[in-house]
Amino acid sequence: MYEKDDWYNLAPKIASSTSRRLHVQKDHPISITRAIIESRFPSTTYKYHNTFFPVVSTLQNFDSLGFPADHPGRSKTDTYYINEKTVLRTHTSAHQADVFRANESKGYLISADVYRRDAIDRSHYPIFHQMEGARVWDREQVPNGDIAAAVWKDIEALPTHEMKVEDPNPPTHADRNPLQPEHSIEEAEAIAAHLKRSLELVVVEIFSRAKKAAIAANPDYVDEQLKVRWIEAYFPFTSPSWELEIFWQGDWLEVLGCGVVKQDIMTKAGISTQLGWAFGLGLERIAMLLFEIPDIRLFWSQDERFLSQFRGITDNPDALKRFVSFSKYPACYKDVAFWLRSSSTAAGGGGSTFHENDIMEIVRDIGGDNVEDVVKVDEFTHPKNGKKSLCYRINYRSLERTLTNEEANKYHERVREALVEKLGVELR
Ligand code: DAH
Repeated sequence: MYEKDDWYNLAPKIASSTSRRLHVQKDHPISITRAIIESRFPSTTYKYHNTFFPVVSTLQNFDSLGFPADHPGRSKTDTYYINEKTVLRTHTSAHQADVFRANESKGYLISADVYRRDAIDRSHYPIFHQMEGARVWDREQVPNGDIAAAVWKDIEALPTHEMKVEDPNPPTHADRNPLQPEHSIEEAEAIAAHLKRSLELVVVEIFSRAKKAAIAANPDYVDEQLKVRWIEAYFPFTSPSWELEIFWQGDWLEVLGCGVVKQDIMTKAGISTQLGWAFGLGLERIAMLLFEIPDIRLFWSQDERFLSQFRGITDNPDALKRFVSFSKYPACYKDVAFWLRSSSTAAGGGGSTFHENDIMEIVRDIGGDNVEDVVKVDEFTHPKNGKKSLCYRINYRSLERTLTNEEANKYHERVREALVEKLGVELR
């Protein structure tokens, strides 16, 4: 049991849904997506960890990865705390240090549910699933201690592909994406090349399956040419670092973060002679692309019209089909406008007492999966008394049935009361 203190901020719904473990439910689209990605990382080299517990220490989630003390991710408005030192993991990277320390394999994949306080819309949900991956080489085990040569040899054993890849930047850059002092440029380049090829092959795998499903549904289907790009990124626990984006329906979509693991993490894990890469990706994002699932709430649906569409795919992956939406029920928009207590700001930060995520949490706790999105539609400051007014528009819509106006009104009335009670706002 974990002792609660005044950091505790779990909403009852969150506390009770740790965890449905969607990533290991047979024939669930999150689990199917996980298995497809795993299939690109052979279990002879990569050990799969799929059952890590979601409650971790702030040491695991932040400090072990080099997050500075004032990093915004640590704030109570972004992260679910049980007590000052205990959180629901916000990413699968929370387990990196422990898995490196256990030193059981040359590579690993960790799939798990992760938790973040966030906005409400069709692509955000406070619980989602990530997969973490890593691959290391040991200076004391490769021939002549030549990591670069060993890594290039492993690259040669990987398949090639014909996907279009944009990668305009040099592998390292002194200011934007520095080489670590413990690594030679040859080592970093080789590790980066192995990392990028491995992840490009994941994208190729996912999209060739998606394309097959699309053709099965429509023999005349013409796909746009698949295109990805590598862009420079920053993470406290890798250097150099990148994000991978996919060109999808007219937009560049970020799908993962990755990089060369900071040597300090290896050293602290007692494996200072090893070096390598790590990545983290969001499984919902990829499952939404793979199956064309339009709303993230659907993953939590127990409705047969959803679940039945994926049945049998685990045993017969070639039967993978695109998701066919069941009817779209009507939206029901309700606005709520209020004055903030005078000391607060909508942007949060700076010791303020109000953060938009607090509203999201209240709405979600009351409306649950019957809320599709919440958007701020108006904001102004009273010229005389300096008080700030905000107006939010809540879209009440179920994925499974038509909500009556009466039901939406009931939810909305409770939201209004809770805003007063919990945030001390003054309704307008
Ligand atoms: N943990 C990061 C996130 O949640 C993703 C990530 C980035 C994981 C880079 C990694 C990595 O292992 O090397 O946004």
